[in-house]
Formats: sequence, structure tokens, C-alpha cells
Amino acid sequence: LLEPVPQLPVLYTSLGFSVFAFLSTIYLVPSLGPTFINANLKGNDLLKTYSTPIPESMGLVCASVYIVTLTLFIPFAFSDALTTPVDSSAAEGITVSEFPHRQLAVYLSSLLSLLTATLLGFLDDVFDIRWRHKLPIPIIASIPLLMVYFAERGNTNVVVPLPLRYLFGTLVNLGPLYYLYMSLLSTFCTNSINILAGINGSEVSQALIIAVSVILNDLLYLPWPIGVRVPVHLLGNNTEIGFGGVWKAGMAFGSKELVERHLFSLYFMLPLVAVCAGFMYHNWYPARAFPGDTLCYMTGMAFAVIFNFILSCPQLFGLVPCPRHRVPRFDPATNLLHPSKAVFERPPSRLTTFILQVFSMLGLTVSTPHPKTGLIHETTNLTILNFLLVRLGPMSEKRLVQVLMCVQAAGSVLAFFIRYGLAGLVYDG
Ligand code: UD1
Ligand code: MG
Repeated sequence: LLEPVPQLPVLYTSLGFSVFAFLSTIYLVPSLGPTFINANLKGNDLLKTYSTPIPESMGLVCASVYIVTLTLFIPFAFSDALTTPVDSSAAEGITVSEFPHRQLAVYLSSLLSLLTATLLGFLDDVFDIRWRHKLPIPIIASIPLLMVYFAERGNTNVVVPLPLRYLFGTLVNLGPLYYLYMSLLSTFCTNSINILAGINGSEVSQALIIAVSVILNDLLYLPWPIGVRVPVHLLGNNTEIGFGGVWKAGMAFGSKELVERHLFSLYFMLPLVAVCAGFMYHNWYPARAFPGDTLCYMTGMAFAVIFNFILSCPQLFGLVPCPRHRVPRFDPATNLLHPSKAVFERPPSRLTTFILQVFSMLGLTVSTPHPKTGLIHETTNLTILNFLLVRLGPMSEKRLVQVLMCVQAAGSVLAFFIRYGLAGLVYDG
């Protein structure tokens, strides 16, 4: 028989909290704007003809609402443990032995990492921290989470894809390297949302779409009262998908641990979607508020934005010059955006030239040779925004953020396809 699964009503409580978080953000962002401007937390919209100061670092409001919501929710997340006695012989009320200390540790360490990320983002907004100083901070912020992972005897094995099994076997234990990988992932995530920035709505919409995708995935694993199962054979021989969940043959559907894991993910993702949606209302073109680095670091702690980061590497690591702003160039006469450029002050090295030639060949950038020397003299900046403008031609800021959101959503669809479709080809069950 299956173990009793956690009750879904707690999920509805989380939904209620999220609605409250959404309304608070909608209300607080415009009413605190002037306070932020007075504290000198403001910026000019680079891609507009007007220069009204726009309140910056408003992500601090989102982060505060988010963290307060998660904190108030703690007693509800553990309400099962608070109300159910172990067995009939045990004392009524709170039972110490059954309390899920592990889950509490995970919950609290996640909050700690979110708080650290918020602090780092806010300090960056106020002091403009240098790259080499801000890189290691998220690694430190990830230590509490890693420790809990270790204490839980977290898995450090990776499953090897079928074609490589004759080399490595079915499982490879990465051991300490797995922890290194996870701590680097945190630096990667926090910085990657921040560098996909500069047009109204870009930062917060990425976070929103990824969080919604995570939610959709979690919902598939919950024991819904409607027990309809729709076998989808296209998804690979052993997989079924439906209101009841996605499961593999042999996997106890609705197993307590699996359901709990996805419920936890939902408790964190629902209020995140709420604050992002509330903020996006004010950040949508033409923006009345900027997220600042605070929002980027806080949301980045939750997930990754891969393509833009890989594309940016040559500029982030100094092979190609990186101007202070890599936002597209604004043409006030037509109200259109064009790709912006980085200019080489010194001739590029062989490696740089090679990388840029490959990028140009792949259609990611356009580099212009110097008329006299023939060496690369300037290149379009290495961000996804400039890439979209190179490929699709000049467009307005509003259109560009819409295209960006479609790309992000397509990325999520692809991820679902790989997880539930292709995985059957390279992995077995
Ligand atoms: C990152 C990018 C930089 C980009 C900047 C824009 C890298 C390495 N850095 O720097 O290329 O130009 O973000 O945010 O990729 N702004 C707008 N419209 C918006 C949002 C921001 O014009 O919708 C401008 C405002 O002037 C605002 C400033 O960008 O004051 C904020 O810049 P900040 O977040 O401090 O830049 P970085 O994160 O350091
Ligand atoms: Mg920023």
C-alpha cells in the first residue's frame, strides 16, 4: 500500500499567500517609488527620449514581500507535523519524534541563501561592486544549502546517457566535484539574470517564465483528486502523463517523498511568480520602476539563464572589451533599437579573433574589420538582445522584450520535450 501523501489544502494556502504577495507588490512598488528616488536609488531609462528619474532597486520591495511571505508560511508548510500525533498511544498535539527536521532545514537554508542573495544584490545596487569581488559571494551563500544537502546524504551520482555507458557505466559518482558543481551553479544563476538586462521588462519576465515552467512540472507530480490518467505513448515507452502525474513504470506513483519534494518546490515558486507578476505590471514598457541588481540576484538564486551567459563569456572574462552598458543602441528618430557595439582599442589576440569568427559564422554577432589593418576592429555586443537584433533587424523596445519572452518560453517547451520526450532515447526509465 502507498504511504499517506501530504494533503493538498496546504497548497491552496500557499496559493492564497501568493495572491496576497501579488497585491502587496502591485500596491507597494508605486507607493515606495518616491522614497527610493529620495534615497538616490534611481536611474535614467537609457533607451528613451525623456530623462525622468525612474526608481531603481525596486527588486528590494519584491524580495522583501517574497521573503516575508515565505516566512509567514513556515507554520503552514509544517502544519501536518504540528497537528497529527504519531499514534494513538502518543501524547496529543505536537509530536517531537515525527517532526520533519530535514525539510525544515532545507526550507530555512533556502531562505538564508535567498536573503544573502538579496543583500548582495542591494549592495551591488548601492556600491556598484566589481566583477571579481561579486563572483565569489554567491559561492559562500550556497554553503548552507550544500551542508544540508550533505547532511541529507544527498545524491552525488549522475546517470550516464546510454551511448556513453560502455565507457563510464550506468552511474558516475562525482563526490566532492558534485558540490563544486552546485556552488558554481549558484554564482552562475545569480549573475546570469543580471546580465540579460537593460530593456524594460527583460529581467523580471525571464524569471517569471522559468518559474511558471517549474510550477507546471511540479503540478504533474501531485496526487490530484481527479484520477484521470492519459497514457501518452509519444513520451517514451515507460512514461505516462496525466492529471495524476508523470511517472515511470516501477515508480510508486504518488510516493510520499516525490509528492513532498514537488510540494516544497511549489511553496517557493508560487509566491515568486506572484511578486514577479506584480512587479512586471510596473516594469512593463514604458517602465515606471527598475528592478535593480537586487531582483536579479534574488530571482537568479532560483534558476539559470544559460544561452545569454555562454554568449557573454568572452566579454565577461576580458577577451573582448566589455563596455559599461551593453544595452542595444537607441535611435530616437525612429524609436527603434539597433545592435550596440564594443570597440577594440588594441588589436585582438588570435584566440579572440578565432572566437569572434566562430560567433560570426554561427550568425550570433557581426564583427567589422579595420579598413586599413583588416583586423577585427569592432563587434556587436555579445548578449541575446543584440543577437536578436542582428538576426531579426531593428525593432522597438516593447517588441524586443516580447520576442525575448517568446524565446524564453520556447526554451521551457524545449526543456519539457527533452525531459519527457528525448530522455527516453538516451536514458532508460
Ligand atoms: C548589466 C549589463 C550591462 C547592461 C545593464 C543594464 C553585463 C556585463 N552588464 O550591468 O551591459 O547595460 O545591466 O541594466 O552584461 N536600464 C534601462 N532600462 C531598463 C533597465 C535598466 O535603461 O529596463 C538602465 C538604467 O539606466 C539603470 C541601469 O540600466 O539605472 C541599471 O544598470 P545596472 O543593473 O546597475 O547594470 P549592471 O547589472 O552592472
Ligand atoms: Mg543589473
